[in-house]
Amino acid sequence: MARRWWQPTRRDAVIAALTLCGLAVAGFLVALSGVYDIAASRSHLEITRWFLEFGKRRAVATYSLPVQAPPSLDDRNLVRLGAGHFRDGCASCHGAPGEQANPIVRAMQPAPPPLSVRAPTWTAEELFWIVRNGLKYTGMPAWPAPRRGDEVWAVVAFLLQLPEMDAARYRELTRLPPADTPAVAACVACHGDSSSPPVSRLVPRLNGQSQRYLELALRNYAHGQRPSGIMQPQAARLNSRTIELVARYYAGLKPASVPPADAEAGQIERGRGIATGGFEERGIPPCLTCHGGHALATYPKLAGQSEAYIAGQLHLLQKGIRADTPQGAIMTPIARLLSDRQIEDVAAWFASVEP
Ligand code: HEC
Ligand code: HEC
Ligand code: HEC
Repeated sequence: MARRWWQPTRRDAVIAALTLCGLAVAGFLVALSGVYDIAASRSHLEITRWFLEFGKRRAVATYSLPVQAPPSLDDRNLVRLGAGHFRDGCASCHGAPGEQANPIVRAMQPAPPPLSVRAPTWTAEELFWIVRNGLKYTGMPAWPAPRRGDEVWAVVAFLLQLPEMDAARYRELTRLPPADTPAVAACVACHGDSSSPPVSRLVPRLNGQSQRYLELALRNYAHGQRPSGIMQPQAARLNSRTIELVARYYAGLKPASVPPADAEAGQIERGRGIATGGFEERGIPPCLTCHGGHALATYPKLAGQSEAYIAGQLHLLQKGIRADTPQGAIMTPIARLLSDRQIEDVAAWFASVEP
């Protein structure tokens, strides 16, 4: 048998182990001596910058391999929701069309780059991975609710439009409306009020929902018991007085309906059957027992809510994402009894009903 050109011996293994130990000790001594300058006021050497950028690109490319983008990232409901979150959650660091980032933030090392320029250098899947996981050692935060990838896609849908977006279009997408109560202005920007519907069918209508349900939902978000990277930060800004104030404001508004989406008549009929009759054979009680006009004040009303929001929440409930609160624990097993088609049907019916 031919001898291989190199066969590692015991001696080679010992040399390799000693070299590694030597390098580790040298690294420790450098840190111990304190000579490596970690000041953010000094930028990296060009070679260090190149190496970090290279490492970041490779890591993001590798870890985003299993990510699969949904088919319709140009859906305006996704883009509008993503724009609202970008205004409150990203623009302070990254700036936006027509808006500079804060000078304090520009003194970060590395500084958050303008995303109109950088977003097109990544694929949609890579952007998803970055926004969901953040970037270690850079100040780029992870999505606050790790199980809410559905919300991250709204931000990615917005980032994909950003390079073409001028300041006027950005202002139009993210305008804060004038509001009598300042605490409410940010909420109205997404949820609308008595004269305007929510900006996206993925955003629930709050008008005419009971004050007690709204307060409960806001407290659940604020305490992290109802995961949402979009709503948790909004609710965390409120104190118990402002929670009561915004809840009373929305509870007192006329329950303006969201224009129903196109649904075929058969689908709406099937949905009515589930909502009013339930499915005795599978133990599904009629939804209206708990979501109709005579239900408990801490239970949400569903009539006139958009089909996209209802179906989206039922899918989240099925995954157990709202199961950490006593009320969510009631609804979770019911949602799990529904098939995908039944979810579409019952959502279409509730959306077609006048509130
Ligand atoms: C606290 C400041 C901060 C906030 C808030 C923030 N980022 Fe970042 N972001 C950073 C920093 C710092 C980097 C790293 C830049 C680097 O590696 O050179 C970064 C990098 C990124 C990148 C990769 C850019 C590139 O080409 O390297 C994307 C995409 C991104 N952020 C999107 C977002 C989105 C979307 C949001 C809002 C959900 C957001 N960021 C919120 C600071 C922030
Ligand atoms: C960027 C858009 C946006 C802003 C701004 C916003 N919301 Fe929301 N809100 C949402 C979305 C999206 C949901 C659904 C979240 C989920 O999946 O749980 C939601 C859910 C809610 C719910 C739960 C409704 C239900 O039927 O369970 C309440 C209550 C609420 N928001 C109140 C507020 C208040 C009060 C403010 C202002 C302080 C506010 N929101 C600001 C987008 C927004
Ligand atoms: C036994 C009472 C009960 C029944 C029956 C019931 N639900 Fe619920 N449902 C609840 C409760 C309680 C909540 C609020 C969960 C929370 O606070 O997180 C809820 C929440 C929901 C939500 C989320 C609403 C929002 O604004 O976020 C949807 C959608 C929903 N239910 C749909 C249905 C459908 C469809 C049916 C019929 C198949 C149904 N529910 C039957 C008790 C019930």
